[in-house]
Amino acid sequence: MSLIFRQLFEKESSTYTYILADKETGEALIIDPVKETLERDLSLLSEMNLKLKYTLETHVHADHITSAAQLKKETGAKIVLGSGSLLQTADILLKNNESLKFGTQKLTALSTPGHTIACTSYKINNYVFTGDTLLIRGCGRTDFQEGSPQDLFNSVRNKLFLLDDETIVYPGHDYKGRTSSTIGEEKKNNLRLKLEITEEQFVEIMKNLKLPYPKQIDKALPANLKHGCLI
Ligand code: FE2
Repeated sequence: MSLIFRQLFEKESSTYTYILADKETGEALIIDPVKETLERDLSLLSEMNLKLKYTLETHVHADHITSAAQLKKETGAKIVLGSGSLLQTADILLKNNESLKFGTQKLTALSTPGHTIACTSYKINNYVFTGDTLLIRGCGRTDFQEGSPQDLFNSVRNKLFLLDDETIVYPGHDYKGRTSSTIGEEKKNNLRLKLEITEEQFVEIMKNLKLPYPKQIDKALPANLKHGCLI
């Protein structure tokens, strides 16, 4: 019944990729894999004797290209996104609260829109993989890909913050070298989303971020709409 867990890092985009596997059967899934680290991830899977069944995306990324299509070619792993995604080329679109089984393990999708229209978090045991919806002490921007600060606030405060305080938060990125947090810690210390901040204040914060246009978006988005196929 035990779960194998690896947190991996891609340094150009500061992206975290996660491998989860069922110890008993070796069935595995990967969350948010990056094109640049495809070989590393394939070697790790093979060294650990794991069979990749699924590639999950927390959303269609604007800052890096996914290796989902290449992983599918190499391993046959099905591509999974949240059902809010219009990416009909995905093999599986998980609705809110729908689960995916690998070996004896079960992971559940939580629809958490706001950073993008179709952002999805994934929960397994006391871990939650939040993509860019909830970052450590922060959150993803909401000014492109049909993002909405109101939706993000609602997703975090009325969905993620309802999980147990001890739930470990594994984000899609961190730019300061932090690797995980907990729901309880973010409720208290998240600079934008801690409990004393109101929705109006949050929307104001997000409106005034004045962030530059994302460097990789023109390259990454069209590629990721094809799961990372460059042709
Ligand atoms: Fe993102």
